[in-house]
Formats: sequence, C-alpha cells, structure tokens
Amino acid sequence: MTTPHAWPELRGIAYGGDYNPEQWSRETWREDVVLMREAGVNLVSVGIFSWALVEVAEGEFDFSWLDELLDLLHENGVHVDLGTPTASPPAWFFAKHPDAHVIDRDGRTMGFGSRGMASHSSAAYREAIVRYADALATRYAKHPAVVLWHVHNEYGVPVGEDYSPQSVNAFRGWLQEKYATLDGLNSAWGTAFWGQHYTAWEHIGAPAAAPSVVNPAQRLDFARFTDHQLRACYIAERDAIRVHADQPITTNFMANQSWTTDLWAWGREVDIVSDDHYLWAPDEDAHIGLSIAADLSRSVGGGKPWILMEHSTSAVNWQPRNIAKRPGEMARNSLTHFGRGADAILFFQWRAGRSGAEKFHSAMLPHAGTNSRVFREVAQLGGDLGRLEEVQGSTVEADVAILWDFESFWAQDLEWRPTDDISHQERIRAYYERLWRDGITVDFALPGQDLSQYKLVVAPAQYMLTAADAENLTRYVADGGTLLVSYFSAVVDENDAVHPGGFLAPLRDVLGVDVEEHLPLRAGATAGVALGGGELLGADHWQEALRLHGADVFGRYSQGPAAGEPAITRNTHGDGTAWYVSTRLDADSLKTLMNAVYADAGVSTEGLPEGLEVITRHGADASYRIAVNHNEQDAVLAADGHELLSDTEVQGSFTVPAGGVAVIRTTK
Ligand code: GLA
Repeated sequence: MTTPHAWPELRGIAYGGDYNPEQWSRETWREDVVLMREAGVNLVSVGIFSWALVEVAEGEFDFSWLDELLDLLHENGVHVDLGTPTASPPAWFFAKHPDAHVIDRDGRTMGFGSRGMASHSSAAYREAIVRYADALATRYAKHPAVVLWHVHNEYGVPVGEDYSPQSVNAFRGWLQEKYATLDGLNSAWGTAFWGQHYTAWEHIGAPAAAPSVVNPAQRLDFARFTDHQLRACYIAERDAIRVHADQPITTNFMANQSWTTDLWAWGREVDIVSDDHYLWAPDEDAHIGLSIAADLSRSVGGGKPWILMEHSTSAVNWQPRNIAKRPGEMARNSLTHFGRGADAILFFQWRAGRSGAEKFHSAMLPHAGTNSRVFREVAQLGGDLGRLEEVQGSTVEADVAILWDFESFWAQDLEWRPTDDISHQERIRAYYERLWRDGITVDFALPGQDLSQYKLVVAPAQYMLTAADAENLTRYVADGGTLLVSYFSAVVDENDAVHPGGFLAPLRDVLGVDVEEHLPLRAGATAGVALGGGELLGADHWQEALRLHGADVFGRYSQGPAAGEPAITRNTHGDGTAWYVSTRLDADSLKTLMNAVYADAGVSTEGLPEGLEVITRHGADASYRIAVNHNEQDAVLAADGHELLSDTEVQGSFTVPAGGVAVIRTTK
C-alpha cells in the first residue's frame, strides 16, 4: 500500500488524452498545442509506447525530444501524465533477450512487431523496466509539466498468462511460498483425482494445454500467480519512480473489460485509480456497461480519486463492427463517468495516427481535421468540463452493493461446468441494469469486506465463496442487512472444491435453503416462476432443486424439471432478510422481485423518467446531480438549484434536452 499522493497540480476536471507526438513533425507539435488550447485540453499522456525512441540501446538514453516536448506542453499550459513504455519493449531488447518472449498456453512463442509486454517473470525484463523507470523519473521528477506517472499500459492484455520456462519456474516458487509442503498442495489441488499426486516441486508445471481438462485448482492458482507477477512488475516500476518523484502514480485498468487482474488488489497499489473504457458495439445499451465500469473503478479505489484515462471520441477499430458515436454520445459517455466520480475525462488519443494498426480509431483531432463534428464536440466538451471545476473531489455514495469477485470469476470460467449458459457477466449486468433502470447508484464490493454501510447487497454470481466470506455475509444479514443471492453461488471453496455439505451449504443458515441438485435446461427452454399473487415471471436456462431449511417460498416453478417446487425464497435471519433466486430472471422480470427486495431493504426508487440517468456527487458545501438523457425526447427532472453548463437557475424542474446532459448544483 502506498501513501496517498494527492492530485496536486490540476484544479478542476482534467481533460485530454494519449498524445503520441513521436509519430509527427515539430511543425505538427506546434499546431497540436494551439489546438489543445482551443479544445480546453489541460492533460496529456505521453511516452506510453516510446521505449525504442528514448532508450536507443541498452542503458543509452536520448531524452532530447522528450525534453523539448515537455517544455512545449508546459509553455502552453498542458500538464503531462508521463508514461513508462514497458508494454512495448524495443526490438534490441528481444534480440538480446530472446527468452523474454511470452509463450502462450498452446506453446506458441509470441513474436515482435506488435505490442504486449515481455514475460512478467523474465529477469532481464524486470531489470530493464526498473532501469527505464529510474532514468525517466530521475530526469523528469521535477519537471513542472509532470503531474502524474502512468506506469505501463493495461496490464494483462494483450497477454497476461505466460508459459515460458522462467514463468513455470517462478510459479513453482510462488506455490512453495503458498503451500510450504507438497502435502498442502496435493490436498488443495485434490490431486488424488486422475492420479495427479506430486512427489517433487520440479514436477509441477504451468497448466498448459493437455489432452483433457487440466486440474481446475491448478488453473486457478496459475491465474492468481499471473496476477501477482503482473502486479510485481508494476510495483517494481512504481517504487523506482517513487525514489525520485512525489506526483501520484497510476496504471490504467480496464475495469469490466479485462479479467486477468484482480483490481481490488491493484487498487491498493495505485495512488489514483485510472480506467480505460470502450463501448461494446453489439450492446445496444452499452452506456449501462459503461456505468458498470465507472462504478467498479470508483469502488476498487476504496475512496481514492479516480480518472477516466481513455475512452473514444467515436468509433474504435478493433471490434467486428466499429460503430461511430452519434452526436452528443461522447458527451453523454463522458458525463456518466464524471457523474460516477471521475475527476478527469481523457481519450485515446489526441491526434488520429496515419500509420500502424490504429489508423481507423477515432481521436480528438480526427483525420478530417478541425472542420469536423468530432472536433467541434471535443471543443464543446472541453468548455463544458471547464464549467465543472468546483465538482472536482466530490464523492459518490451508494446504498446498494453488488458483489464483484475476480477470483470467483476466474474459477467459474474454467471448463466442465453444469452448463455453458451460465455467465457471471450476464448475471451481474442483469441485476445492475435493474438497479440502473430504477435510478439506484451502486458500489461494487467483495464478499469479505465490511458491508455494514449498505442497505442491500446483491450477489449475482458468487460461484466461489470461502467459509470466512460466507460468515461475513451471514453476519451482515444478522445485523440487519438485506442480502440477495442468485443461483450457482457458494458452490465451491477457494480451491474450486465443492463445499462439504453441498451446494450453498455455507449460506444455508442465512438463506434458510440449500441446493439438492442443479437442473440446467436445454437451449431455448423456459422456466416460468409463479408468484403467490398469481403473477408469472419469465425465466430460462437454469433451475435448481431446493431444500427448504426455514425460508419462505416467494415463487415456485410453473414448468420444467422443478415444476411446482420452490424457485425464489425469502428468509429472515437475525435483524435482516436474505433472498435466494435459483433461476435466471431477465431484467424486466427482475422488476417485480426487486421491488419486494427494495421494500425489505428500505431502498427507495426515485421514479425518474425512463432513460434519464441521474447520479449525485456530494461536495463539502453542495451536491451535484448529473443528469444524462439517453432518450430521443426531452426529459423533465424535478430539481432546484443551479445548472452549471447553461448557467441557469433551476426552480422546481429542469428539462434535460433529448440526448443532452445537465449538472445541477444544490447548495447544502
Ligand atoms: C487501449 C490502449 C490504447 C489503444 C486503445 C484503442 O485502451 O490502451 O493504447 O490501443 O485501446 O481503443
């Protein structure tokens, strides 16, 4: 854990993006700073892929162009987030250290000519990244332009796992540290199964491709090891920088768009959280996925500031169909991140690149130049964010938490599960979307953390649950909390072994129910749930045979293998209530259920117009309601105060234009 380093130099909401001037002439640099000023840009990320142009040969640094660039930016009032380019080692590095290439699960050596870090366990790579970070920080720690350090780029992608010999070796060391004895490892991994018992540490390998499914506990430990190694690389660079520099240090996460890193652990290691988020085009409500990313970024920081390090002004270039943003969409996306706590709105990238793999990616300054819709909207947004200076540092509060546990996701994603239809992403999205549509702001949380601040905790996908975490959830309910647990939860322990006593056993007391048998359905089959009042909820793909241990039945299956049997239960435990939902209800069907759950929890819904997203940031003297209208019609929000973007007084109500945004200050 680092000492918090605040956000010292920048007042207000920072605005800008990745800047790759090494791809351009000096003349273009001079044009860039003029246009940056015009667009309200005050922060750019520099040097993220510049290793080969700075350390021109091993230990030989040429900082001349970076000196010139940082001075130019500083003279023009643009601050710098200075990157270490360790996601992209130079050709000379791999020529000298061919063993540092990553080897994938199928045994393929990853080549050069792309990007993606070297082996996280390569001694040569570790030495090189520390040398670079040290040299960079020595040179620029006191440069007045530098306000933030940006280590590496998106740890875990495009490659995280490494099956090279040095990685296997490091994995053995990590296992020895974790288990101390081979007996401990054999027992945790259940190696009696299929005759995998180990008699020597040297016999243990990485879980590479094998004739059939590889031991799931081994794979889970390899995922943990990978996360640990990547973080060790980050920490090595961070500490090398910290020797010289006082500015905050971060690395850019991909909240809900990458799964190799346990962001709860990473959140403890950064000074401020930063996130990259890109809309997923096939999702017609991609702004809801965006809200998940923003809420998760805020949550993993545990109260630290967070910033949006990258998003796109319009289309990306790496999806099957790259859909351009429609007018106003970029501002709506930005204001959603801002509303959910981001204190900087940054893009990939400032100027669209002419060469290389990303030339079809949108930018703040597109190939079409300044006479373009995108640049006009970019400049407009820069001006708007300039009006929101006073909101910087204010916080977001939530009454509801959704459990988000990367280790459980890693375990659940392994092979040979009861059905391929179960997806933690899908279940989290369904419950989150219900809460989003009901206007309820959520935090994400771990099952083992203190949950007492929340009125309601939802566990949409907690496949893996340790006994200690189950006790924590039980205590939370006993103390008055409301808990909702969805199916295929509390199935296994931390070694992916089924809990003694069966599925759901650790939560049996609090839920008043357990699971006798999983009853997955055939593709396309439905599983309606009839409620006491006669209402029928739509459900599909999964049922469970439940055994009641004191819970009341809220709904029973109307069809399928469990027809007539309990589907949804409710149990009082101590001062609280615990719900169990043993099937997949869609977001609409969840409405009926969640209304009953909100009533138990004392969570109120605001009754906002459909499609109007409203989030509140709380400052010392005022609170700010950020309204994002996703509709094609105007939406009326009941409010009093002052709208900051249009600088108008608000009495009683404010009309948020179709597709528009508003920020309304209410003085306390
Ligand atoms: C990631 C990377 C950027 C860029 C964008 C494109 O977020 O960090 O360098 O490649 O994707 O969307």
